[in-house]
Amino acid sequence: MVTGGSGFIGTHTCLELINAGVNVSIIDNFSNSVGESLERIERLSGKKVSFYEVDIRNKNSLQEVFKASDFSAVIHFAGLKAVGESVSYPVRYYQNNVLGTLNLLDVMSQYNVRKLVFSSSATVYGDPETLPIKEFFPRSATNPYGQSKLMVEHILEDLAKADPEWKIACLRYFNPVGAHSSGMIGEDPQDIPNNLMPYISQVAVGKREKLSIFGNDYPTVDGTGVRDYIHVTDLAKGHLAALNYLYSEQAESFSPFNLGRGQGISVLQLVNAFEKASGRKIPYEVVNRRPGDIAACYADAQRAKQLLGWKAHLGVEDMCKDAWRWQEMNPTGYK
Ligand code: NAD
Ligand code: UD1
Repeated sequence: MVTGGSGFIGTHTCLELINAGVNVSIIDNFSNSVGESLERIERLSGKKVSFYEVDIRNKNSLQEVFKASDFSAVIHFAGLKAVGESVSYPVRYYQNNVLGTLNLLDVMSQYNVRKLVFSSSATVYGDPETLPIKEFFPRSATNPYGQSKLMVEHILEDLAKADPEWKIACLRYFNPVGAHSSGMIGEDPQDIPNNLMPYISQVAVGKREKLSIFGNDYPTVDGTGVRDYIHVTDLAKGHLAALNYLYSEQAESFSPFNLGRGQGISVLQLVNAFEKASGRKIPYEVVNRRPGDIAACYADAQRAKQLLGWKAHLGVEDMCKDAWRWQEMNPTGYK
């Protein structure tokens, strides 16, 4: 069972799972996605997916789905993810991300499903004192979105302690970007993009006039913010590796993993790489820093390599080429 399977990371993961022979069912409420993404998964995989239009905040509906099926594990993507919006509407974020997850955990317990892969975020590390970031680093949150991820992490840790039958992989994504190499599925922001890569793509395709670079006075290689961008296909494969791990003898009840490449890329470096990959100029202006942003963030992904046998293979060039192919083939997203 994949919750939020119609979204950006969910679609890519479902495709990897189906191609690996996993029998996948999807739950989504389409609050940040559209049904066309599911049709594209079916077209790319040549398989039908079972889909339930369900809101995870509705426990009764979740129960109906679990009653009618025989799931062995859950990958839980469903949630809201826009930091700024979470500051304006905190209750909505806690309801979706925390209450929704509590409902899911309750229903999973009820139906004896105790394997879970959870979508967490590098945001739980706050502003790290040193880099690269390792899983045992202190965690903190500066906004309701980050807080909701951190709360769920604590809930999952408590659950794993109380009942070691639970096997939970807590995946802390760094900065997922790019799209499937077919150009058929990709990131489809329903509004003005908050994140850098979709914003750059929309400037490249002529949908937005120019990129605003949030500050060039950070203590980084060129003054712009540094992040650990990871291709969404690599990330999707990380979920398959995590799922396999949960079925292995060595699986711990609660296991956090950084999913990143371990390489910091600045905003200007990404802009340059995108210009090369697309052959388009990306006009930009430097504006003030975005509140809440940190200078640099990148992963130590050794733990995932050792325990999951997973590492990212695709580089910045692939990320930009694939993001551009998706944008060019679908200038208005799935619609
Ligand atoms: P997305 O918005 O594209 O996908 C999330 C999906 O969940 C959407 O299809 C949405 O309709 C669905 N959803 C939301 N609330 C729901 C609810 N109450 N019931 C049922 N479905 C619901 O986001 P994404 O980028 O694919 O992210 C997936 C997960 O990974 C999220 O939990 C997000 O917080 C986390 N994450 C994302 C990033 C990123 O940069 N994309 C980074 C770190 C963590
Ligand atoms: C942001 C969120 C983080 C979330 C992640 C994935 C904030 C403060 N952080 O991370 O909690 O987990 O998205 O959804 O919102 N940039 C620009 N111009 C833009 C957009 C971004 O210069 O128009 C810069 C940012 O300042 C940053 C870098 O690009 O240095 C990456 O930004 P973004 O893609 O939003 O990711 P994060 O800030 O890492």
